[in-house]
Amino acid sequence: MISVFGSVNMDLVAYVESAPALGETVTGRAFRTVPGGKGANQAIAAARAGAEVAFLGAVGEDAFGPQMRRTLAESGVDVTGLRTVPGVSGIAQIVVDDQGGNSIIVVPGANGTVTAPSEAELEVIARSDVLLLQLELPIEAVTAAARAARAAGTTVILTPAPVQPLPGELLDAVDILVANEHEAAAITGRPDHEEALRELKARVDWVIITLGSRGALTAAPGTGPALHVEAPKVRAVDTTAAGDTFVGALAVAHVERWSPDRAVRFAGAAAALSVQREGASTSMPTRAEIDRSLAGDVPPPDEHR
Ligand code: RIB
Repeated sequence: MISVFGSVNMDLVAYVESAPALGETVTGRAFRTVPGGKGANQAIAAARAGAEVAFLGAVGEDAFGPQMRRTLAESGVDVTGLRTVPGVSGIAQIVVDDQGGNSIIVVPGANGTVTAPSEAELEVIARSDVLLLQLELPIEAVTAAARAARAAGTTVILTPAPVQPLPGELLDAVDILVANEHEAAAITGRPDHEEALRELKARVDWVIITLGSRGALTAAPGTGPALHVEAPKVRAVDTTAAGDTFVGALAVAHVERWSPDRAVRFAGAAAALSVQREGASTSMPTRAEIDRSLAGDVPPPDEHR
């Protein structure tokens, strides 16, 4: 079982030709509200990729709360542990340009009230095979959850996003770190991917640096030097949540005891499918789609809807 202790946001997404510069106004071509949040996205990606998943986090008492709870549940995620707290839900204001690139502002709302895992959440974490963490909950709560998981023998996978300084006690409890190239450079102060990977590998067993359309660098225990795994060549329409899809699928492959290199290929195939669709929770592929893509039979992007 995979548990996710993380954020859930309503994404307010504007699609534009190119993102406005500071002080500039541009006209968008579309607007959508899509359930997202790095935690919820990873939970949905893992559930669609075939795992039993429990989501632990918080929504607010506004209209977005029930909508986001429903989206998680309809994707097969157990939301028994999802708290409803006074105040507003988390939101993310997202701009997606015609190249599929995005910029995001997150306002934590209910996510910011999760300052520590509860006893019930710690119990779910302790009986999970894998715990997925990101940094959209307060860092002290993320650290406490990681330490509890480590003590229980649950594998901890951390996505250090939005990037911020990582407490040593958090990093020490992480088994697998999945950072994008910007996060890896910010954490280590090393823009060179190989150097950043080496530095992170000195602290964490398995480090993966995702490189977008260029694939990923991976260094796992017992697999020799770092390996560059190519990404499938696809046309991206929206890269929002590609990293979350990668992590959700990676967790599934890990639970299924795939070798690290195959696990990264599986995760990369899932992410490549997600960038061909708009939105966060709307973009994650099913297990059948990932399997077909790995077998070279790529389904049409909207087949799962
Ligand atoms: O990683 C993508 C996610 O980041 C979006 O869904 C948004 O909610 C922000 O959390």
